[in-house]
Amino acid sequence: MIDCPASERRQPAPAYAAPHGFEVSAEEHALLRATPPAPALEWATAAFGSRARIESTRAMLGGTSSAVHELLVRDQSAKLHRVVLRRHVRTEWLAQEPDLAEREARTLELLQTTALPAPRLLAIDPDGSAAGAPAVLMTRLPGEIEWNPTDVTAYLDGLVELLVSVHAAIPCADTTTIPRYTPYALEMLRPPVWANDARVWLRAIDMHLGPAPAHSRVFIHRDFHPGNVLRHNGRVTGIIDWVNASVGAREADVGHCRLNLAQRCGMTVADTFLRQYQERTGTTAYHPYWDVVAALGGLDETWDANPNPIVERFLAVAVSQL
Ligand SMILES: Nc1ncnc2c1ncn2[C@@H]1O[C@H](COP(=O)(O)OP(=O)(O)OP(=O)(O)O)[C@@H](O)[C@H]1O
Ligand SMILES: [Mg+2]
Repeated sequence: MIDCPASERRQPAPAYAAPHGFEVSAEEHALLRATPPAPALEWATAAFGSRARIESTRAMLGGTSSAVHELLVRDQSAKLHRVVLRRHVRTEWLAQEPDLAEREARTLELLQTTALPAPRLLAIDPDGSAAGAPAVLMTRLPGEIEWNPTDVTAYLDGLVELLVSVHAAIPCADTTTIPRYTPYALEMLRPPVWANDARVWLRAIDMHLGPAPAHSRVFIHRDFHPGNVLRHNGRVTGIIDWVNASVGAREADVGHCRLNLAQRCGMTVADTFLRQYQERTGTTAYHPYWDVVAALGGLDETWDANPNPIVERFLAVAVSQL
């Protein structure tokens, strides 16, 4: 989302954006949603034996940083397997971060022995030599993305409980293969041209460039928000999209989730999420720095073309707390 590494460096969502992942251009649609090419499908079926075959493929909505397809594979015993194939087909992002598939695979491997409802790793092609693009094959978890809850308190409780489990999932000693979190760098040190209040942006930029408040380091998801959480009948059934997992401050996940909630559900819901998180974890202090780095990370000239008053408001509230 907005808080972007090269793999996710995209412009802030417009103020009244379509639900996450539905906003791809025609060109992106062709790249991300077209049926995977034969080598990718052959590589995926090989994970189930030489006589396995594809029954069906379906592009999964919401995949914007990679091509994500659900595959139904029949193995040689006629058993059906519903799996997810992620292919990193955005070559400009791969040029900057060639290890995207490996990173997710390493994290999924670590998560395999935990109770977190994460996909199981089935196969990895780190450099695309077999699948045509770096690819990860994983199990398909049950459930769907939910952005429009009827019971907001229960919805946020589910998110909070899941976030607490993520942060406790992997002991620090076992995270040596996971990258350390640093906020995404600012490529531009001025407000975007559409800013209403330049002072807000300049204060936020100062805060982003300054030191982080004291924090402890744990395993974090780093793209934690409802668009990466699956639910069925209101209950959380899965957490996906592990490409950016890092070791860093719990608050980095809290801020990123708050930003996404503010954009899709409104500031009140973002604030309620924080309150419920603090009640659950018995914490009281939350530094606005984490909101700022979530909202401002990756700021560059592409933001000029995408007015986003919600982000400006989010930053204004954060810098007003200093
Ligand atoms: N293992 C899985 N099980 C079930 N559904 C999945 C799984 N992986 C992905 N999906 C579905 O595919 C969609 C896109 O997945 P994902 O969020 O990982 O893609 P992405 O390209 O990283 O997208 P973005 O960067 O926009 O978050 C999800 O919204 C979800 O509906
Ligand atoms: Mg996602």
